[in-house]
Amino acid sequence: MSATKLTAALAAAALLALAQGAAAQQPAAPKPEPAPSAAEQKAAASQTTAAPATAAAPPASVAPGAAELKDARAMVLQDQRQPLNNAPVWSEVRSGVPQYTSIPGREAGILIQSSGETWREARVPIAFWGGILVALAVLGLAGFYLLKGTMTVESRSTGRLIQRFTPADRYAHWLMAIAWVILGITGLILSLGKSVLLPVIGYTLFSWLATAAKNLHNFVGPILIVAIPWMFIRFVRHNGIGVEDVKWFLNIGNYFKGHEYPSGKFNAGEKIVFWLLLVVLSTVLLVTGLVLNFPNFGQTRQTMQLMNIIHMASAYVAIALACVHIYLGTLGMAGAYKAMRYGYVDETWAEHHHKRWYDDVKAGKAREKFVSRDQVPAEVWTEIEGAARPAAA
Ligand code: HEM
Repeated sequence: MSATKLTAALAAAALLALAQGAAAQQPAAPKPEPAPSAAEQKAAASQTTAAPATAAAPPASVAPGAAELKDARAMVLQDQRQPLNNAPVWSEVRSGVPQYTSIPGREAGILIQSSGETWREARVPIAFWGGILVALAVLGLAGFYLLKGTMTVESRSTGRLIQRFTPADRYAHWLMAIAWVILGITGLILSLGKSVLLPVIGYTLFSWLATAAKNLHNFVGPILIVAIPWMFIRFVRHNGIGVEDVKWFLNIGNYFKGHEYPSGKFNAGEKIVFWLLLVVLSTVLLVTGLVLNFPNFGQTRQTMQLMNIIHMASAYVAIALACVHIYLGTLGMAGAYKAMRYGYVDETWAEHHHKRWYDDVKAGKAREKFVSRDQVPAEVWTEIEGAARPAAA
């Protein structure tokens, strides 16, 4: 072979080698490949075990176990074989199993807390249907008031008053009522404000209102730690449930017609307010609220999400029930609000609304007593007598 031919052959071989090398450098189009078989995973696991550790090992307390190492190696192998398929990584992340992190703190090793999505999905329908429930309660009561007006006592006032509530009863009730009404209103702003108020009042005002509502809600909530037990102690003795309460309910139609089934100091409807609104719902709201208010006791996000759902659901039921109670305690029934404000009721009011209790007072069997004129300030006396029979006042 001549020198020229030899040179040409060498050049061609060199070019071919270069072309092959370049082709090997090109990223290959990703080809769908089957997931690594169990045998391959095992081989990869033993290969990685044999390899010397180059990265700094985590502290012994958080050092991964054999199973975790195996999973990690399977992931590495998967990444090499199917570089664009990172589903296994994400299912690991979404599993909620804590991973290693050097950052100290509760749940710091959990990158994504998947139950948060379930929480978000549950919140919207609860707020929606809860809002509908409260709106129906308010509209229903407004309609009822337009139809029936305020319920009054028809017989004439005798001019004799009974002390129905002591100052301690009244302070306990008003502490509860004021705190509760603030919590109810601010809670509704926090829960529904973004959908209902924001479009009407705009970002600036809503931002101010929401911040004020949040702070009020957080600071007023703990007052219930005192208010609920205080109310409970003051009122529980008159809230025992018996057959008479069932009969009162069976006659509820007559209640609204002005012919009440005789009740003790509190009727069955009021006992529902006591047991359901005060004892059950307010306590649930207080406990769940405290878990949310003080996140510094090691509770996880999942616990707080659950508490939030229970808090919201009970709040809407409680607010609807409180609307009925507040209506009957103010607009709905003459004399009720003044009883709780001043502590006294007219004898005719007591006989009409709480006949069994009135009979006990008359017989001297009840703790509550008739009061003489000089025990009550003149203006209070006038107020109570007027409230008992406003039509004739
Ligand atoms: C502005 C708000 C409120 C007003 C105007 C109001 C009004 C009244 C009135 C007038 C009474 C006396 C009824 C009677 O003499 O028979 C009463 C009793 C009562 N209220 Fe309220 N109230 C309010 C809020 C609340 C709240 C938020 C709760 C509980 C969470 C509550 C629980 C009670 C209880 C337990 C009784 C006694 C009934 C019983 O023990 O069976 N009140 N309220």
